[in-house]
Amino acid sequence: MNTIFLTGSSGFFGTNIQQALHGRYHIIPSHSNTLDITDADAVSKAIREANPTYVIHASAIASSQYCNDHPDECHRINVVGTEHVARACGETGCKLIFLSTEQVFNGNTSNGPYDEEQTPEPAGEYGKSKLLAEQVVAGLCRDHVILRLTWLFDYPKPHYSKGLNNILINTIESMKREKPFRVPANEFRGMTWIKDLVGLFPKLLQLEPGVYHTGSENPLDRHDTVRFIMEELGANDTALQLLVKDTTTYGSRARDIRLDTSKLRQFGIVFPSTEEALHTAIKEWRTTR
Ligand SMILES: NC(=O)c1ccc[n+]([C@@H]2O[C@H](COP(=O)([O-])OP(=O)(O)OC[C@H]3O[C@@H](n4cnc5c(N)ncnc54)[C@H](OP(=O)(O)O)[C@@H]3O)[C@@H](O)[C@H]2O)c1
Repeated sequence: MNTIFLTGSSGFFGTNIQQALHGRYHIIPSHSNTLDITDADAVSKAIREANPTYVIHASAIASSQYCNDHPDECHRINVVGTEHVARACGETGCKLIFLSTEQVFNGNTSNGPYDEEQTPEPAGEYGKSKLLAEQVVAGLCRDHVILRLTWLFDYPKPHYSKGLNNILINTIESMKREKPFRVPANEFRGMTWIKDLVGLFPKLLQLEPGVYHTGSENPLDRHDTVRFIMEELGANDTALQLLVKDTTTYGSRARDIRLDTSKLRQFGIVFPSTEEALHTAIKEWRTTR
């Protein structure tokens, strides 16, 4: 059985990937309490001793707002921490799968969907740190796969932290409040069900070195995505009227950070559309309640 050394094991992605790969790989989990990735010696020792086939590096400060408010901490964990992981992988000769983000394109002035050939121009600290981290990974570890992910979602689960920010849980919470809520119409991004992502991971681990745009594509704007969710949840006309179309956020220019995932499809890795994924996730949520 191949060994995977996993950073970020306590996070949203980390908990889901462990469940999905349980029994198929020997997984060595780690998070900030067990291995602080800003400690170069500790990272080097842990990866050398584990001698894994793969390292999935999911540890990060993944909140854009927190990164903007704490740029030094964001750099230390997202860039310097990744440097430590990538150097250890390069020295040990294991394959590194690094989780990056669509946010590397959030300062580009052209519109998405962006393919891997397009040069990212991140605007915020989070996107900047993840792009720098990508460069560090590519420079230090020959056998690397960089997955630029779209926004992840799941339905509510008891072990998720209260502040988990994703489109399905946010919409469910807004509907529960029974008060009008505004959602931007001029924002476009892919949204991926975590179950689809972790389910495809055995194939993603096999990719040849490079950058891959990864996840579900979504032609709908954010407002229409939320409306779709509400309809799938069975919202009646009164409930639907609570959803207010916000046409002012992002001004006249759309925020469009969609990713073109055709490169991944060429490798036979195909995600459902965001609408299909939401439909299936909501159906599964119904059966678990
Ligand atoms: N969620 C999304 O929608 C999304 C979209 C695109 C890309 N991504 C990327 O996917 C990856 C996983 O995201 P996520 O949503 O699972 O994030 P998350 O839930 O916030 O989890 C972050 C993980 O990083 C760990 N961590 C933080 N500081 C650390 C440190 N100094 N040393 C070691 N571990 C540390 C945390 O450990 P503790 O719990 O111990 O603090 C936690 O396990 C990230 O790289 C993120 O950039 C996520």
